[in-house]
Amino acid sequence: MNVPEIAIAPDARLVGSKAANELLRAARETPSRGDRLHVAFSGGSTARYLLAALEDKSNAGNVPWERLDIYWSDERCVPVESADSNHGAALRQLLDRLPLAPEHLHKPPVEAGAPKTIAASYEATLRLVTGTSAPAIPRFDIVYLGLGLDAHIASLFPGSKALENKDRLVLHTRAPVQPIERISFSPAVLLAANRVVLLACGQEKAAVVKEVLESPPDPSRLPAQLLLSARGRVLWFLDTAAASLLSPRSAPLSTW
Ligand code: 6PG
Repeated sequence: MNVPEIAIAPDARLVGSKAANELLRAARETPSRGDRLHVAFSGGSTARYLLAALEDKSNAGNVPWERLDIYWSDERCVPVESADSNHGAALRQLLDRLPLAPEHLHKPPVEAGAPKTIAASYEATLRLVTGTSAPAIPRFDIVYLGLGLDAHIASLFPGSKALENKDRLVLHTRAPVQPIERISFSPAVLLAANRVVLLACGQEKAAVVKEVLESPPDPSRLPAQLLLSARGRVLWFLDTAAASLLSPRSAPLSTW
């Protein structure tokens, strides 16, 4: 069973900074000559803190944007102009202002039609860009995730059949809230990543953080517990409020 590494920061801004540092660390650990880093962002509020921290580090010249292949671990099936688009939000906040080559920015093809078609097309992109033929599963360098109040990660929601899927890379899923139609990395892709970095901030996340980390495994009820079967490192970056209900046995490996 995968043992998560938990770190706690005083506030969400520092959580974002810690998460951004993981990208720099992955870049240092991966040989630079020609080697690409495959990085997936998520949606939600913590993604904004991560992007803000990446912008700071980028201004300092520390982020090797030219080496990144960027994906989204989930997306809402809405046009990129919509305020609900994860990809659109990241473009507007930061990515549009960076000198990223379009061929390294892998946007979910929301214009491709029905959600199943969008998922199949994004799966083909993942296979092509990572050079992974079926049935192998690509190993992302980093997958960033948020945590929903119902313990969902990416767009894998409690009770969903998607949680049992073993063979696809990208799935059509439905959220219990608008926008309902989603695509999401499958459990197999999340579990194969070299690093999963999960960010959760704020008092309203305290109960779900405790439940996921401290209750017996039941991923169909608590999807974030899928990560107990992850192959790579699983890093939980929390602010003090989100970590406030954790018991001492879940003591963080680091604080700062
Ligand atoms: C999405 C997500 C989702 C998100 C969580 C947490 O597109 O909705 O990717 O998994 O990360 O719902 O979101 P917050 O950080 O906003 O609570």
